[in-house]
Amino acid sequence: MQLASVRRLKDAGRVRYVGITHYTASSYAEVEAVLRAEKLDFLQINYALDDRAAAERLLPLAQARGVAVLVNQPFGGGGLLRRLAGKPLPGWAADIGCASWAQVLLKFVLSHPAVTCAIPGTGRPAHMLDNLAAGRGALPDASFWRLHGALLLG
Ligand SMILES: NC(=O)c1ccc[n+]([C@@H]2O[C@H](COP(=O)([O-])OP(=O)(O)OC[C@H]3O[C@@H](n4cnc5c(N)ncnc54)[C@H](OP(=O)(O)O)[C@@H]3O)[C@@H](O)[C@H]2O)c1
Repeated sequence: MQLASVRRLKDAGRVRYVGITHYTASSYAEVEAVLRAEKLDFLQINYALDDRAAAERLLPLAQARGVAVLVNQPFGGGGLLRRLAGKPLPGWAADIGCASWAQVLLKFVLSHPAVTCAIPGTGRPAHMLDNLAAGRGALPDASFWRLHGALLLG
């Protein structure tokens, strides 16, 4: 098993952190089983405003077991951003320190108490700067997203 090899590397001081990753809900049962059975440092998993299945079991479990969570595909692989691109930003975006849809979507992900960081993909430096701005300012709580999140996708 790969994890056993990586753990040996960690024990030898050649690897600092050990974790697992996936990007589809069809893998979650297996991911959950590994999370329960192994002592991991991190989980990298998909989570986005329109793709919240990881929040049902995996994110709370990772939090309970002290496993850091790196979120991949925070823009749904880009599809979610394309879907919102023609819409004006809601008035409340400025209230939470967001000047773009990308920042709103990243704040949603970062607001989850189990999430350590998000790893949006981009080939454009301007988008990277845009995305970095989501790391500043207040993070709204779950009740905020219950109120506003569903409306965004309606
Ligand atoms: N472990 C796994 O199994 C796994 C699976 C999938 C992905 N990942 C990792 O997760 C990370 C993100 O995944 P992803 O890139 O597939 O999906 P993503 O981050 O959800 O979306 C990336 C898309 O969003 C666009 N974008 C990024 N910032 C933007 C901005 N500020 N404004 C407008 N468009 C923006 C990008 O286009 P531009 O290039 O034009 O900015 C790109 O098309 C990557 O590092 C990837 O390696 C891991």
